[in-house]
Amino acid sequence: AKQRAAHKERIKQLLIEQDAVLVAHYYTDPEIQALAEETGGCVADSLEMARFGNNHPAKTLLVAGVRFMGETAKILTPEKKVIMPTLEATCSLDLGCPEKEFSEFCDAHPDHTVVVYANTSAAVKARADWVVTSSIAVDVVEHLDSEGHKIIWAPDKHLGGYVAKQTGADMLLWQGACIVHDEFKAKALQQLKQQYPDAAILVHPESPESVVAMADAVGSTSQLIASAQSLPHKKLIVATDKGIFYKMQQACPDKEMIEAPTGGNGATCRSCAHCPWMAMNGLQAIEEALIDASGKEVFVDEALIDKALIPLNRMLGFAK
Ligand code: 13P
Ligand code: SF4
Repeated sequence: AKQRAAHKERIKQLLIEQDAVLVAHYYTDPEIQALAEETGGCVADSLEMARFGNNHPAKTLLVAGVRFMGETAKILTPEKKVIMPTLEATCSLDLGCPEKEFSEFCDAHPDHTVVVYANTSAAVKARADWVVTSSIAVDVVEHLDSEGHKIIWAPDKHLGGYVAKQTGADMLLWQGACIVHDEFKAKALQQLKQQYPDAAILVHPESPESVVAMADAVGSTSQLIASAQSLPHKKLIVATDKGIFYKMQQACPDKEMIEAPTGGNGATCRSCAHCPWMAMNGLQAIEEALIDASGKEVFVDEALIDKALIPLNRMLGFAK
């Protein structure tokens, strides 16, 4: 504990010395989220992280999350130094959508508007007409559908399926999945619901359709926290990364939070839903990145920045 406190103090000092601000996702460890809050940074969903970094005057953004979040920050503010505790923190959606194959897929359907989830590489974003996060995916696709667009959606098949169902839009789906949310199981969730019949079910839309179908609220991490507050239920079963419980419990101190089950055959596996890449954002790694950023600074090819900026700015403009 003493050592952790020392890390935190040192990080606080370094942030000031380097005119840096900590931008953290809800799935990072609670102590990272607390540190971001204490030091004037932010804890947010992926859209709000992008917006915060874009508007903040600091010279350096320290992004505690996964690679695409750091890349998005760099694309939006290339004049800033963007560092991450580790550049190894990737995302199964990003990994499952390589630029070359994706480009071929787009080329094969030239009459489609290309909408990609933020959880993609800069190169994939550069190929897109729109970037969206889970908080605005339905709204953007609804808008495009009303204008008669046919849509290519990548990479998350579950979120894409959910958006298609909500909007009725004509969508071709890339078949990617989040390894964390893909593990939530409807059968086990039904059993848990029988145990807690009064509980509301909150689900991130990267989860399988059968799990989303049981939800009282579906949304991005920020939207799920807002739903936790606004729903009248005193018990909440939550299907997303367990990192969210830190802020959700703070937002609703009088409510009981229950982790949705992962794993097959009705077996529940508590505390399993945690993104291995988000977990790489430790205190020590943050301190080290501030002391020596080599190998931890995010660079994006300039030509890609110019192209990826277009769909990213559309997203920010739409979300206003
Ligand atoms: P949010 O936009 O809801 O924060 O989701 C980002 C993410 O990576 C979910 O796994
Ligand atoms: Fe990617 Fe899933 Fe991890 Fe989010 S939780 S960063 S979607 S692997």
